[in-house]
Amino acid sequence: MKTTKPKQISRVYTRNNLDEKIKEPTLKILSQVLANLIDLSLITKQAHWNMRGSNFIAVHEMLDTFRTAIITHLDNVAERSVQIGGTALGSVQGVAANSQLKEYPSDIYDVQDHLVELADRYAVVANHLRSMIDDIKDPISGDIIQGALEDLDQYLWFLEANIDKQH
Ligand SMILES: [Fe+2]
Repeated sequence: MKTTKPKQISRVYTRNNLDEKIKEPTLKILSQVLANLIDLSLITKQAHWNMRGSNFIAVHEMLDTFRTAIITHLDNVAERSVQIGGTALGSVQGVAANSQLKEYPSDIYDVQDHLVELADRYAVVANHLRSMIDDIKDPISGDIIQGALEDLDQYLWFLEANIDKQH
């Protein structure tokens, strides 16, 4: 059983000479983004598998396209962390401790219920990325964040546009 929170990001030596004053805060941001994106990729499959009802096949297939893109983005985030001397945390224990998302319900089935729960969480991740754009001083990490945000804003729109009763 887990008794401790995952460690802070361990650092490793690199010849990459990005200013230390930029590296440290960038790693913090990337670490948060990584946990959020892994969580989002997992719950997207949770919904993909368990949803039922009208419009099932369209939403079911749409979610797989989201997940494929999210995995590409989170891989970019993890690998940028390592390039600048960080350690990428990809275990479920690390993600559970670090993700900003509230737990995804395991007792919902209706397509519409899943769309609402997903939209709530896609919004958290997208809005967090947006809030970080001005803070990130490493331009390469900034491009990665920007790319993830472009897709997540679009996916949030797709989710919301599939919700029958807007709320
Ligand atoms: Fe599938």
